[in-house]
Amino acid sequence: MLLEACDASKTFRARRGGTSVDAVVSANLAIRPGDFVAIVGESGSGKSTLARMLLGLIPVTSGTIQLDGVALPTMDRPQRHRFRRTVQAVLQDPAGSLNPRKTVGRAIGEVVTLHRIARGKDAVRARVVEALDLVGLTPGQSFVDRYPHELSGGQRQRVLIARALVLDPRIIVADEAVSALDASVKAGVLRLMNELRERLGVGYVFITHDLPVVNKVCDYVYVMKSGEIVESGTKEQIFAVPSHPYTRTLLAAAPTLAPA
Ligand SMILES: Nc1ncnc2c1ncn2[C@@H]1O[C@H](COP(=O)(O)OP(=O)(O)OP(=O)(O)O)[C@@H](O)[C@H]1O
Ligand SMILES: [Mg+2]
Repeated sequence: MLLEACDASKTFRARRGGTSVDAVVSANLAIRPGDFVAIVGESGSGKSTLARMLLGLIPVTSGTIQLDGVALPTMDRPQRHRFRRTVQAVLQDPAGSLNPRKTVGRAIGEVVTLHRIARGKDAVRARVVEALDLVGLTPGQSFVDRYPHELSGGQRQRVLIARALVLDPRIIVADEAVSALDASVKAGVLRLMNELRERLGVGYVFITHDLPVVNKVCDYVYVMKSGEIVESGTKEQIFAVPSHPYTRTLLAAAPTLAPA
């Protein structure tokens, strides 16, 4: 399986009189299950826009997003259904990804029901508990009936991962998914993501400001600036010999990553 952005661009049109924004310009990116790909770049460089394009949440202005060579708008119903299951999002919790009025069991259970993964109250609950166990919220039973405010930030982030995993995705697009967490919790969630990659073969498009985290967990890096992917390569290539001046600036701002 292969998820790709092919010369994908997004222009946000101005409402009236204002100027339009070229948020993403001719982006090319590819990810397979088991890959850990990072998108880095300064604020406003187009990372989240590219993520939403990859997830099919916003239409491209030109170019295509393709799954196994089939462009999103040309997919038939079964292909679209497969896309919605296999490519999942884990976004930052403070952005309000969890409804405060829904228990963990309901938040995940709704996804299970919607995608017809299980039917009937008991079967759905069993599936939810299984997903919670998988992300280390153990025993899952003790988390199903809790509300988001009854969880820590790291636990909420794990719930979001569980909600994505319940669909058995091959690729997860994670936009600033751990940025709000403190160091030790962050490390825990990252370990979990890596473990799921090894165990289930999940691939990640990991969007972050945090270069030390990229250095720790990712294999391949795309660097964005002003809507363009200005550089891409393996982590070793990018960190050891950044070829683009912007990447050098970015790395210089993270002194712990200066090449030894
Ligand atoms: N819905 C929208 N309408 C108009 N402009 C938008 C919209 N969404 C994003 N933009 C603009 O597109 C550009 C890229 O934004 P984007 O959110 O993709 O950046 P980012 O790299 O994710 O930044 P950050 O690191 O701060 O999250 C910005 O100039 C932003 O103002
Ligand atoms: Mg963003």
